[in-house]
Amino acid sequence: MIRKLFVTGLVLAAFVAVFLWWLSAPSLLADSAFDKLQDPDLARGQDLFWTGGCASCHSPAEAKGDDKLVLSGGAALKSDFGDFYPPNISTDPNAGIGGWSLREFANAMKRGVGPKGEHLYPSFPYTSYTRISMADINDLWGFMQTLPASSNVAPQHALGFPFNIRRALGLWKFLYLKEGSVVKLNTSNEQILRGQYLVEGPGHCGECHTPRTLIGGLQLDAWLSGAKNPDGKGIIPNITPLGSIKDWSATDIAYYLESGFTPEYDSAGGSMVDVQQNIARIPAEDREAISAYLKAIPGHSNGY
Ligand code: HEC
Ligand code: HEC
Repeated sequence: MIRKLFVTGLVLAAFVAVFLWWLSAPSLLADSAFDKLQDPDLARGQDLFWTGGCASCHSPAEAKGDDKLVLSGGAALKSDFGDFYPPNISTDPNAGIGGWSLREFANAMKRGVGPKGEHLYPSFPYTSYTRISMADINDLWGFMQTLPASSNVAPQHALGFPFNIRRALGLWKFLYLKEGSVVKLNTSNEQILRGQYLVEGPGHCGECHTPRTLIGGLQLDAWLSGAKNPDGKGIIPNITPLGSIKDWSATDIAYYLESGFTPEYDSAGGSMVDVQQNIARIPAEDREAISAYLKAIPGHSNGY
């Protein structure tokens, strides 16, 4: 009897193990995702690059002006799980990703999977980038081909066990990697919908402004309601209509994103400085769309 139970237990454990292994397997984009792509529009790719803030993580912290376009690897991102070093994603074929195909790039951006089929860490905000359209991925990749190569070899991440096991990320992604829109907006207003795409996708605003679960997933039901600052200092504000910007008009928000000045003539601080400087480079209509969306989303009390 005991022996029978033991065998049944082993069989069950084996099933669970196989199931978890299957569940944690990387999933790639279908071939059809690449149909109908045209020659990349480099100007749109450049706008996407600044909306996505790639340089903030992938170029050296001290880089200014055009040096930001050298994506040689960035400063450590500190987290509860360890230190992540954003890799070299310049056009260098060895130190960077110059040897990658569009397919490999798209799978990294939209599925968080690297060219060897390995899961990437969500400190690379693909949980937002997954919402970027294939046409935009194609334009962004085209633009990135025009950027300089750097042979700098970025440091390895400094992560403890079990966070150094990439396969385990499959389970995390099963819970938290969702492609659909976050907020259900009952509107056909094109400006608001454009803002939704920019904020929830390439702009990845929620990665900082939304609280996280204990294992680091975004709490989508508290979208943009503010969060603890991952670097330990203070909070990141609630930017829903019930948050600290509740008295700002859409014009005030757009002006802040363009100039860094609040309606009280304070200036943006902390990690928002870089975000604001990137967003200042995108078309004014896009900043207006972001602002219209922030006025249209549901209000939440503070998430921190
Ligand atoms: C918040 C910081 C951050 C931002 C913003 C960011 N990345 Fe990254 N990125 C990372 C980190 C960290 C990794 C390493 C992930 C890993 O090792 O699993 C990474 C990895 C990657 C990789 C995989 C590289 C490799 O060698 O495996 C690509 C491609 C990439 N990023 C492209 C981009 C692009 C394009 C943008 C802008 C649209 C961007 N990243 C914005 C932090 C960031
Ligand atoms: C890297 C983290 C990060 C990202 C990404 C980010 N923010 Fe912020 N944001 C902050 C921080 C930190 C502050 C507080 C700035 C300060 O203290 O002056 C802030 C402040 C703001 C404010 C002003 C709120 C106030 O009460 O003063 C607005 C509006 C805002 N962010 C909008 C956005 C939008 C829109 C995006 C996406 C395009 C975005 N943020 C992406 C970190 C971030």
